[in-house]
Amino acid sequence: MNNFTFWSPTKFVFGRDTESLTGDLVKQFGGKKALIVYGGGSVVRSGLLDRVKKSLDDAGVAWEEMGGICPNPTDDRVYEGIGLVRAHGIDFLLAVGGGSVIDTAKGIACGVPYEGDFWDFYCGKKVVATAMPVGVVLTIPAAGSEGSGNSVITKKDGLIKLSLRTESALRPRFAVMNPELTFTLPPYQTACGIVDMMAHIFERYFSNTPGCETTDRVAEGLLTAIMGEARKVIDSPLDYEARANIMWSSTLAHNGLCGTGRVEDWASHFIEHELSAIYDVAHGAGLAVVNPAWMTYVVRTNPSKVAQFAVRVMGVVPGEKSEREIAVEGIARLKSFYRSIGMPVTLGELGIAEPDIDRLVAKLHEHKGNPIGGYVKLTPADTEQIYKLML
Ligand code: NZQ
Ligand code: ZN
Repeated sequence: MNNFTFWSPTKFVFGRDTESLTGDLVKQFGGKKALIVYGGGSVVRSGLLDRVKKSLDDAGVAWEEMGGICPNPTDDRVYEGIGLVRAHGIDFLLAVGGGSVIDTAKGIACGVPYEGDFWDFYCGKKVVATAMPVGVVLTIPAAGSEGSGNSVITKKDGLIKLSLRTESALRPRFAVMNPELTFTLPPYQTACGIVDMMAHIFERYFSNTPGCETTDRVAEGLLTAIMGEARKVIDSPLDYEARANIMWSSTLAHNGLCGTGRVEDWASHFIEHELSAIYDVAHGAGLAVVNPAWMTYVVRTNPSKVAQFAVRVMGVVPGEKSEREIAVEGIARLKSFYRSIGMPVTLGELGIAEPDIDRLVAKLHEHKGNPIGGYVKLTPADTEQIYKLML
């Protein structure tokens, strides 16, 4: 096990009706005037936005609002938000929504105190030194942004989707997590979230660092719980306990816990980010296609950890099989699971009939370097093969 720092200071306030505490939480973390950031309308239709506004009013916190954030959020809304914050004397960012909304709020949070272009942080020219406080009312368990220090934004000019990683500056001060808020999720979005949280665990689990049995078992336990509860939420969307378990899993999958003590991978996320940047597909659905293709490719040279996953999580019985055969069977079971929750496992099923693989590979390595990944280091020749395995 490697030396590590685990930093997860967000205050998670979990359970029924917790959104009524939002105003008090903003005040507790020093907010006097909040910018409420939200998405394309689900929080308006469900009445959540009104309840959050009332909670702010009751706590004496003033607010402005900025709605209409789209999935795969873009830089133009971050610039708009920075302008609003500066013009209205806002001191707190309140994201009411999922990863796209939270990441936009985080982009604004680091952009406001900085005199230059906020994009400098995303393209690695500058390191975030200070950021405004962000609070979250989560409506979809998926991206894990409520407990991560990361933000993913797409620059419209050139369709460049980049993730900014900070250790602490962009971790939300609090996250309100009421599983009932997820009852209204369309089944497709529920499934996308399930795939994404599993992918966040895979990126950390598929590692060559030895001596991480505790972290491995945490990851395997989470994966097992997610897959079991996933079937329940797909069959019974109003099952509170299943929704609650899925929601808490999404946070634990991505707050750093599953990466403690080891080198992480992240190649699959980089490979997917090019798909969602160019073709605007849901990130989770993209990962359902990428993850099995990536696994299929890496087991050719490094099957051991995929075989461990196959046995401990996917229930493959090793018998006389080789590590590679065990791994391959585990991948087949994973694909069946994704299909069973309504996810695509090929680019065609994802709606990308004629992918421009040359462009995907070129953009991937231009943005993310060469090679990428930790479990197996991937050059453009490798990632081209992985995109082809998705056909
Ligand atoms: O916009 P509205 O109308 O709210 O609808 C949203 C959106 O269409 C809908 N939705 C959310 N909560 C709902 C709901 N519909 C009904 N009822 C509810 N309770 O779901 C759709 C997707 O929302 P979005 O916020 O885009 O989903 P998600 O949380 O999956 O976020 C995806 C974004 O996060 C990035 C992804 O790349 C993508 O841009 N990621 C961010 C990460 C991070 N910051 O740490 C890590 C991830 O790996 C990921 O890359
Ligand atoms: Zn993800």
